[in-house]
Amino acid sequence: MLSKEIEIALNDQLVIEAKSSHIYLAWASWAENAGYPGIAKFMYAHSDEERQHMLKLLHYINERGGKAIVPELAKPSVNFENIKDLFQSLLEHERFVTSSINDVVGLCLTSRDYSTHNFMQWYVAEQLEEEALATDLLDKLNMIGNDKSGMYLFDRDIMSIRGE
Ligand code: FEO
Repeated sequence: MLSKEIEIALNDQLVIEAKSSHIYLAWASWAENAGYPGIAKFMYAHSDEERQHMLKLLHYINERGGKAIVPELAKPSVNFENIKDLFQSLLEHERFVTSSINDVVGLCLTSRDYSTHNFMQWYVAEQLEEEALATDLLDKLNMIGNDKSGMYLFDRDIMSIRGE
């Protein structure tokens, strides 16, 4: 049985994962309209992954005797100057998610909830990968700069990173 404090922390994390899915969906649509099918595909797939992260928390909370709450979501902001700006926002958002996950992990330790601590390790590993990927993509974009053919290749290559 989850303690009330852990149940609240997990539900807060569930909100963050649901928001992430919603945000990336909006960004995918923005990229699609801006003429970047590869980036759009990447963001749609990322949105699907975040939904899975949300569902994983939802099932865990309910299985451990808590009550998962499906939140209402605000309209995401999509004001990007350019593609680099979009990926900078992605990295910043993932860093925010990591810090929130670290807070949950810290709470699990102080509350001596080792089962939830164990469950959260999947998210810790996932965040490492997501931050590394976002950093790598941003490095590539910095190298490309304003080169149009470089951007064309970036959009083509990113198609194979996520999804089918
Ligand atoms: Fe599930 Fe990328 O945070």
